[in-house]
Amino acid sequence: MYKSKITGTGSYLPKKIMTNEDLSKIVETSSEWILERTGIETRYIADTKNGESNSDMAAIACKKAMDMAGVEAKDIEMIVFGTCTPDRRLPHASAELQRKLGIENECACFDLGAACSGFVYGMTIADNFIKTGTYKNILVVGAEVLSSIVDWSDRGTCILFGDGAGAVVLGRADENETSEVLGATLGCDGSGTEYLKIETGGSSSPLTHEDIDAKNNFIQMEGRTVFKYATRTMIGNAMKLLDQSKMEPNDVDWYIPHQANIRIIEYIAKKLRLQDGKCVVTVNKYGNNSSATIPIAIDEAIRDGRIKRGQTVMLDAFGAGVTTGAVLFRF
Ligand code: UT7
Repeated sequence: MYKSKITGTGSYLPKKIMTNEDLSKIVETSSEWILERTGIETRYIADTKNGESNSDMAAIACKKAMDMAGVEAKDIEMIVFGTCTPDRRLPHASAELQRKLGIENECACFDLGAACSGFVYGMTIADNFIKTGTYKNILVVGAEVLSSIVDWSDRGTCILFGDGAGAVVLGRADENETSEVLGATLGCDGSGTEYLKIETGGSSSPLTHEDIDAKNNFIQMEGRTVFKYATRTMIGNAMKLLDQSKMEPNDVDWYIPHQANIRIIEYIAKKLRLQDGKCVVTVNKYGNNSSATIPIAIDEAIRDGRIKRGQTVMLDAFGAGVTTGAVLFRF
């Protein structure tokens, strides 16, 4: 059995910033309402009109992660790409990403559909491939263009979401190193499928003109219900993983929850009785960019020196499904 560790991180945010003030010109809302109910001030929007795609953003994040890890294209043995907004339905975005990264070794690539939990699912899968000795260097990516699936006339959802990309290189750790993935837990509560969904466009209801007119091809969400799922499952997974690891909440140095709403993060921090400042927060700047929130937050906190080698970090996510997952690692 081998150990895995994060050897490099990278992230990318598109150039265009959308403020709460901008949104108040599109839907009936106000900066104050958005800030008070979500903690979000700005979000970033991909320039899709000029061809900026999900895999373009992911490629930039991956290159940064590979530079930090000191690995080249030929060293990557698998790409796990968590996303619910691939460039196209076919082929999968990870194949586009492989090509854009100049990886010519025909390594394994797949997209992972676990919505906002996609990165945490991906990291857990990659960890297992490294533990078994199958691979030594895996790119785990979370990237989204949620602006392409948001109903810009629905104030209950459009204020929340943004675009962006984050990635890590998960590599094999030497036996005597302290850096390693310590544990993980994944789950899904399928009773929640109707609370956060896109109704049409799948094989069970191919898109019709009527659907487009009714905006059934965009995200629909029962916000309050999702909020309750989020807090229950994220607290549950964090506690489960801490129990498994024989740790107390404040034994963990950094807590990186999925960034959906500052009220969700504050509620969890309160219930876990986390000391102030233990949570990495980016939702104020970037809003919720689904599978990208956690790898972007990891990258920021490592690059600005908050997360140091030897410190422990808990990742905790939930997403449509309702999928959930947490990962504990020592950086
Ligand atoms: O990655 C997972 C993604 N999803 C989430 O994490 C969503 C979790 N849920 C949430 O973050 C919150 O439920 C929301 C931010 C979506 C909504 O906040 P809330 O405090 O749960 O508000 P609410 O839905 O209960 O709505 C309260 C009021 C309603 O008006 P009435 O019925 O009381 O008159 C809404 O119509 O606020 C109204 N409202 C708004 N007002 C101004 C809803 N959206 C807006 C808005 N601006 N953007």
